[in-house]
Amino acid sequence: MAKLNENYLNLKESYLFSEIAHRVEKYSTANPDKKVIRLGIGDVTLPIGSTMIHALHEGVDAMASSDSFKGYGPERGYDFVRNAIVEYYGRNGVSVEADEIFVSDGAKSDTGNITDLFDKDNIVMVPDPVYPVYVDTNTMDGRNIIYIDANVENNFLPMPDKNVHADIIYLCSPNNPTGATYSKEQLKEWVDYALLNDAIILFDSAYEAFITDESLPRSIFAIEGAKKCAIEFCSLSKTAGFTGTRCGYTVVPKELTITASNGTVMSLNAMWNRRQSTKFNGVSYIVQKGAAAAFSKEGMAQSRENIKFYQENAKIIADTLAKKNIRFFGGINSPYIWFECPNGMDSWAFFDYLLENAQVVGTPGAGFGKNGQKFFRLTSFGNRENTIEAMERIEKLLSK
Ligand code: MLT
Repeated sequence: MAKLNENYLNLKESYLFSEIAHRVEKYSTANPDKKVIRLGIGDVTLPIGSTMIHALHEGVDAMASSDSFKGYGPERGYDFVRNAIVEYYGRNGVSVEADEIFVSDGAKSDTGNITDLFDKDNIVMVPDPVYPVYVDTNTMDGRNIIYIDANVENNFLPMPDKNVHADIIYLCSPNNPTGATYSKEQLKEWVDYALLNDAIILFDSAYEAFITDESLPRSIFAIEGAKKCAIEFCSLSKTAGFTGTRCGYTVVPKELTITASNGTVMSLNAMWNRRQSTKFNGVSYIVQKGAAAAFSKEGMAQSRENIKFYQENAKIIADTLAKKNIRFFGGINSPYIWFECPNGMDSWAFFDYLLENAQVVGTPGAGFGKNGQKFFRLTSFGNRENTIEAMERIEKLLSK
């Protein structure tokens, strides 16, 4: 008889954003005349910039003729993409090498799949609240998870405690869901802690393009020592509008090693290459053409315009919350606005209240952990008209 991976019994019944989609669908079916505005999942709404679209078309056209046709590509991604990423890091003052970069179908998959490299008997540390993928994928493997509190007292930026040991640490900065962003000095403390504990930091940098404060690090590799203890996950989803197109990249430094129990020193870069070449056949040539264009001067300028637009949405949301005296975080170096539910409401109760009375969808903080119980997340990725309308509806509802 086939035996189950019983760790699945320890998961919540459904993934957070599937649960939200289910509730919204139920509401919409019962109320077909109501216009629901979705500011829940962080999904972009603006079209991809013309430079990337042109490159995607070129990729399609290449498939039409035998001299330019592409079959399976190189396992880590085409050189033209990885070299473009190396240059992008360089422009931000960080040095990485092309063979440290692995192009993938996105940061969500990679942050989940990276767990393949680690034994079940690792202590995994995650902040609470946290992007649920880190918790769910480790739960699927049966790993022991410890939580560190991110809360108003520490500005949602928990720092390491030298009395608590972890082997694997997930950090996301700018943070999903809170929008909080670590400074260089704070990340240095985490790197020092990881080096002291022989731990690995899994650094999710999917929202780095939203950083406006130049003093804040966009990569953990801007921190000395990080190449000996960190893996970085990046995404073109929110940066260049690739949520549907799918493309991300992961940087695994060549210096990063772990010693096996038999004494063999293993390179995580080589192991990730082994894992990916076995289980993944790469991102399509077409999408990689678009991805490379996203790092060009024109592509970057177009994506920056889109990001600016979302940042203006964030300001519209923030201004409304400020007007209603609601305490909020994020929205400046991040596309997410994280705020306290009014009147001490529980976040799922506020979700239902908002859906039923204003037809606005957000994300209940409880979906990210216990410290999110009384918080709520809105995204700035909506279109302008919907963002304004949603905030007008919320303002009206909260004035009753
Ligand atoms: C979110 O809303 O938290 C993100 O869109 C989810 C993701 O990127 O997978």
